[in-house]
Amino acid sequence: MSYHKIVHIGPSGNVGTPVHKALVDSGKFEITVLSRKESKFTSSNPSVKVIKVDFTNHQELVETLKGNEAVVITIGLREVEATTKALIDASIDAGVKRIIPGEFGVDTHTQPGQSQTIYSPHHKIDEYLTGKSAAGVIEYTTINTGPFFNWGLIVPHHLLGFDIPNKKATLYNGGTLRWNTSNVETIGASVVSVFSTPEKFKNKNLLISDFYISQKEILAILEEETGSKFEITETDADKMEEDAEAGLRRGEWNFPNILGAVLGSMFSSKGACGWGENDDSASLGLEKKDLRTEIKKAI
Ligand SMILES: NC(=O)c1ccc[n+]([C@@H]2O[C@H](COP(=O)([O-])OP(=O)(O)OC[C@H]3O[C@@H](n4cnc5c(N)ncnc54)[C@H](OP(=O)(O)O)[C@@H]3O)[C@@H](O)[C@H]2O)c1
Repeated sequence: MSYHKIVHIGPSGNVGTPVHKALVDSGKFEITVLSRKESKFTSSNPSVKVIKVDFTNHQELVETLKGNEAVVITIGLREVEATTKALIDASIDAGVKRIIPGEFGVDTHTQPGQSQTIYSPHHKIDEYLTGKSAAGVIEYTTINTGPFFNWGLIVPHHLLGFDIPNKKATLYNGGTLRWNTSNVETIGASVVSVFSTPEKFKNKNLLISDFYISQKEILAILEEETGSKFEITETDADKMEEDAEAGLRRGEWNFPNILGAVLGSMFSSKGACGWGENDDSASLGLEKKDLRTEIKKAI
């Protein structure tokens, strides 16, 4: 049976915004948002309750979470560990049944993602949450998606390697490796699906995607649709990953190392995002999309 009362933390972020929209648009849930005291978030829907909390105050969190059935967390990587652990503890004391922690990327539950330093906050949360679920006090569902497709095509740091306005592309290891990738709206739909049929996805690590593709497949369509030949830069993704991961292991969590390690995890020959066509998308009711149509929409 579907959950009815759910809590969302991080509704204004890159993935939080489409997740919040999907939850609201589904019309299925009574939604409460928990925000930091300094947050400026307001929901497009007046029925969403927005409560400002101190995430370090356990009792305040417990009182706010009481009466709710599930929590979804979509806060960024840097902030995620302490806040998620606090939310897990408070959810258990408040009687919340299910948590979807903020992953939404590389599969960090199997190798190679399981040992990449960049995802160490996720590994620590995973260990903590699976320990609690093994003790029978809370359930979890994780959702991993590969790089965000329509967001990653146009963000200024060129997550997927394309600078579309300037007709430039960075191809990693020749651009032929295939990887799974999801539109951000698909991620929102997957959260709605988990909360609608929670029993089916109890204590499961889900992998979803709209496409299993390579950079070269995207490039071919981009060149056709823009009528331009892109200027190509070739990059050794294995070396980039090695250097960035070494920096992170030294404790240097700066933007170049974070980006290098994230890109490396996607595009290096280890291929932490390539789980293939047969993932959990169908069991979540997610329809496959047409690549050219989605590229045209994104650009
Ligand atoms: N696969 C990909 O391509 C990809 C890309 C990006 C992110 N991700 C993953 O998606 C997840 C979310 O990342 P994101 O980039 O969407 O995050 P983000 O944009 O940095 O998230 C910001 C949101 O989190 C809230 N927030 C931040 N710190 C908080 C804290 N300490 N306590 C409570 N709320 C806090 C913000 O609320 P206020 O500002 O309103 O307080 C805002 O709603 C992460 O696991 C990340 O690794 C994956």
